[in-house]
Amino acid sequence: MTRILHCIAVLLLLLCCSNSASAGIRKGPYPIFEGSNTAMTVLWQTDAGETNVIRWGADTNYSMGQASVETYGTDYQHKQVISGLEPGTVYYYEVVGYGAGSFRTAPSASATAVKLIAYGDTRTYPADHNKVAGRIRAAYADDPAFQTIALHAGDWVTSNSETYWTNEWFVSGADYPQLHALQAEVPVVGVRGNHEGTATLFAKYFPEPYVAGFYWSFDYGPVHVAMVDQYTTYTAGSAQLNWLSSDLAATTKPWKIVVLHEPGWTSGGSHGNNIAVQTLLQPLFGQYGVQLVVGGHNHYYARGVVDNIQHLTLGGGGAPLYAPASGEPNIVRTDQSNHHTELDINGNTMLFTAHRADGTVIESFTISSGINQAPTANAGVDQTVTDPTQIAVNSPPCNAINTSIPGSCYQTVRAAYQAADNGDTIKIVTLDFAEVLDANRPISVSLLGGYDPVFSASKGVSIINSLILRRGMVRVSRLAITP
Ligand SMILES: [Fe+2]
Repeated sequence: MTRILHCIAVLLLLLCCSNSASAGIRKGPYPIFEGSNTAMTVLWQTDAGETNVIRWGADTNYSMGQASVETYGTDYQHKQVISGLEPGTVYYYEVVGYGAGSFRTAPSASATAVKLIAYGDTRTYPADHNKVAGRIRAAYADDPAFQTIALHAGDWVTSNSETYWTNEWFVSGADYPQLHALQAEVPVVGVRGNHEGTATLFAKYFPEPYVAGFYWSFDYGPVHVAMVDQYTTYTAGSAQLNWLSSDLAATTKPWKIVVLHEPGWTSGGSHGNNIAVQTLLQPLFGQYGVQLVVGGHNHYYARGVVDNIQHLTLGGGGAPLYAPASGEPNIVRTDQSNHHTELDINGNTMLFTAHRADGTVIESFTISSGINQAPTANAGVDQTVTDPTQIAVNSPPCNAINTSIPGSCYQTVRAAYQAADNGDTIKIVTLDFAEVLDANRPISVSLLGGYDPVFSASKGVSIINSLILRRGMVRVSRLAITP
């Protein structure tokens, strides 16, 4: 009986809207993420005032619910919050007569793994943005766990006008099918760039729960994401800087990502480093263990590493490409290309991969969530534990170590590290719980920094889930060996 009543209700709604859903669709429908893992908001805009029907469900039968939605505001926008959903679950929706899409709700609060997309600077050339969007869609076609959210570093469109939002972002599916489809399938959540100007239209089309200006934060499974608005003051003592400090201090999530537009460390060529980020934000990032800072503004890929914090320039979403300068301080990789990036978080390890729009990979590396954790009481002292899944800090007998440093034999990884120079390779072949690894399948790690370096595993040989190095201390945790 319930099913029959449900069907009757849907039919009545369809009949009801068949007269009204005729004006035409201008934007969307598209989901936006407002911070909940049991809800998603779907927006769309029509050509005239009318009532539309939206339906949703676990598949394209859309049998879980429906609503009749009138316009709001002054420009024929529609908005429906779909609530009561399960975390980490894919749902499908349809605005009857106007378009359909899907989304995945945010993970449960206890989730330890999640995958995210990040990119930025999508303005000016929607044809190039369309190519990038196609690669993002291919990522979650290949691995559906990547259908989550896309972090956006700002400069969405050329300027704060309806024309640019229509022609560069909310494009037609006929002109730019990948871009149009991406927006129906992945909530894009990001910051405003300088090109958004006063961002009245950014606010109109992305009405997120901003604290003030356009800054806010949210949890996404094991990740805390803070959105910084660089066009609202964040000087010392400002409301935004005080908020950011409190926000980062309060989170207990192991992963902390900050999204902003103008990077503190980038690779020149057009825009220089943002000194306010260096002087005002970087100390907070270090204090509270931020691992990754997503930025854009310069239209290329660049990665800087400062005090173990990754500072990304992801400006290749579609804007006219710039040539990065060479030799900029702290920059370890640049690439002049349209691109997107994929963040694959599993426990305390993030596998980060930057992909060009032509399908090739710019670079891939791993970082540890613990790289910037406050020093423990045992910092500086190698620790021995018995649980091999937790911490494996070795003090093996010297004769058990087959070190890769010729002529040397080190009691501890720390000792080997202290003796090594930049560019040396340390092979860890014995752990302290007597797990002897195959000497023919060594773990190869590279020193990338000089003082407090990040180690990255040599991909394809084996994977180190986490190798945490601190000044004066080496700790190897959760060592995973992939044959
Ligand atoms: Fe910019």
